Amino acid sequence: MLASACGTLAAGLSHVFSEQLRRGSPPPQRSVSRVRSGSFLEDITSSEFEARYDEIAAARPDVRVIEYILGWPKLLEWAHSVGAYEDATLRNLVPAVPPPELRGITADPAVPVFLWTGLVEAELMLHVYRRHRPDVDSRRPRILDFGCGCGRMTRFFGSRPDKWLTHGCEVNPRHVAWCQKNLPNVTTAQCNVWPPAPYESGFFDLIYCLSVFTHLPESRADAWIKDITRMLAPGGLGIVTTQGNAALETIRASSLHQEMFRLSVQAVADIIARFEESPFVFVQYDDANARRANAGTDYGSTFIHPDYMRSRWESRECEVVEILPGGLRSWQDIVVLRRR
Ligand SMILES: C[S@@+](CC[C@H](N)C(=O)[O-])C[C@H]1O[C@@H](n2cnc3c(N)ncnc32)[C@H](O)[C@@H]1O
Repeated sequence: MLASACGTLAAGLSHVFSEQLRRGSPPPQRSVSRVRSGSFLEDITSSEFEARYDEIAAARPDVRVIEYILGWPKLLEWAHSVGAYEDATLRNLVPAVPPPELRGITADPAVPVFLWTGLVEAELMLHVYRRHRPDVDSRRPRILDFGCGCGRMTRFFGSRPDKWLTHGCEVNPRHVAWCQKNLPNVTTAQCNVWPPAPYESGFFDLIYCLSVFTHLPESRADAWIKDITRMLAPGGLGIVTTQGNAALETIRASSLHQEMFRLSVQAVADIIARFEESPFVFVQYDDANARRANAGTDYGSTFIHPDYMRSRWESRECEVVEILPGGLRSWQDIVVLRRR
């Protein structure tokens, strides 16, 4: 009896609620739910973008539910990825999306995924930087995205030239051409396979390299760590992602990843078993894959043990200040370097 009364009440409430949603009311309660926190997501959201989001939310109950679930400003992750993909007005308020062949070289080519991963990874780079350098937050940092691809992350930093001076560099000329044409607030430069990069010494406060050292052979990795150190101002940070145990364990457990990496389960198990004694493993791409990447012939999949980075990358100029195993979405490790 009680159960059936509760069921009736619930059905009645759900009817009222869905009626309200159908009529487009209540309107989003901005003053209640939008507590401003000065986050990266808020920084990159223009007032026009937010106004258009409001129109969408007023018309679409499913979007309001997403806002209720996520809260503000987390909701902005949805708006800058799925929203900016689905809605033509939002899409026009952000930079163009690169073509599929360029997206596919650098990350997941599906547009909302490409945008969402770029957004949260740019936010993560800035979070790590600010955690290590809270003192310099008041001035506009000079940032370099080394191996920026088609601007998956620089597109977000570039949206606020008043807050960050954003540079990107790339070895693949097609990425460079696309970024130069489509990301006007980002200065993108052509790099060579080998250093030096075309920047003066000590220029940058932050240089981040996402999924670049995951492809380089040892001699090139060594040379680029030295050049990144050269380009950093004293106290500046280098944030480099690498593949270590977290990536290897994922590949060992997943046939999909074994196929992607062209590694058998036995080959991965062997790398894991010998990782401490062979802490830098480079598996060269086949010709077709190397041609597609267009980043030098000596290019492939690289796995680096944290102990190696601590001993090999540490120098008179460069301190390894932190290693976060699996810090990038439980997949790649994050290594934080500081210019002494
Ligand atoms: C897997 S992609 C990642 C791209 C970008 N960091 C991102 O996360 O979207 C690796 C990138 O590093 C670039 N790269 C490799 N060697 C480089 C070098 N010597 N100088 C600049 N870029 C390089 C490649 O061309 C490629 O775009």
